[in-house]
Amino acid sequence: MKIIMLGAPGAGKGTQAKMIAQSYKLPHISTGDIFRANIKEGTDLGKEAKTYMDEGKLVPDELTVRILLDRVAKGDCKDGYVLDGFPRTIPQAEVLEKELEKLGDKVDYAINVDVPDENIINRMSGRRACLKCGATYHIKHVPPKKEGICDVCGSELVLRDDDKPETVKKRLDVYHEQTQPLIEFYTKRDVLKTVNGNADPKDVFAAIKEILD
Ligand code: AP5
Ligand code: MG
Repeated sequence: MKIIMLGAPGAGKGTQAKMIAQSYKLPHISTGDIFRANIKEGTDLGKEAKTYMDEGKLVPDELTVRILLDRVAKGDCKDGYVLDGFPRTIPQAEVLEKELEKLGDKVDYAINVDVPDENIINRMSGRRACLKCGATYHIKHVPPKKEGICDVCGSELVLRDDDKPETVKKRLDVYHEQTQPLIEFYTKRDVLKTVNGNADPKDVFAAIKEILD
């Protein structure tokens, strides 16, 4: 099963993608997590990506596509995956579609996690992220067991550099301009499913499960 998560920054794509990945035994692939891991390790890729990410802009398609295609070519992806944060532009979606076509394959579901803009900024300032394993928390809605420490790997949790309110606003603008058109793209392919993301994470997942089962 090949699943794509769509939605504004902070809509809960990562939160739901992890639950889907665990429940359906699929790899969870987040381009944002790949970039953040590279930033943490100080790679050339990380240095380049950081200049865009810190401004709330998208990393150029060419670079992003190359990284994603390398990742989905790995053996663990042969029975499917959950893509979180990719595609994010029409050209990215077109490349993915072409590559899948070559394999006689296609995206099965594009799940749009719908949350109004006004709820987003609030969520982001409370988010805490683990840069080591990619786990995400929220100080109010999804707190870790021990304050400031990742439940999964024990690393320190941080506020992401791009989660400052000014940057979040810019990311929302970029979302509406460049990513939202994908809703129409996948509606035309008859794979778009929208769920209300403005509910408890467990209820959002229950709605997704109903679609996938
Ligand atoms: P990326 O890491 O993908 O960030 P994003 O799309 O902005 O989305 P987020 O990860 O911020 O939010 P999310 O929807 O995953 O929400 P989460 O589950 O964490 O990308 C970062 C940057 O990398 C981009 O800006 C760009 O520069 C670059 N990039 C990445 N991919 C790219 C691509 N394909 N092309 C070009 N550039 C790319 O939830 C948010 C918070 O809310 C958390 O605290 C969570 O605990 C909480 N929460 C979740 N669900 C709920 C709920 N139902 N109720 C209450 N709280 C909730
Ligand atoms: Mg995310």
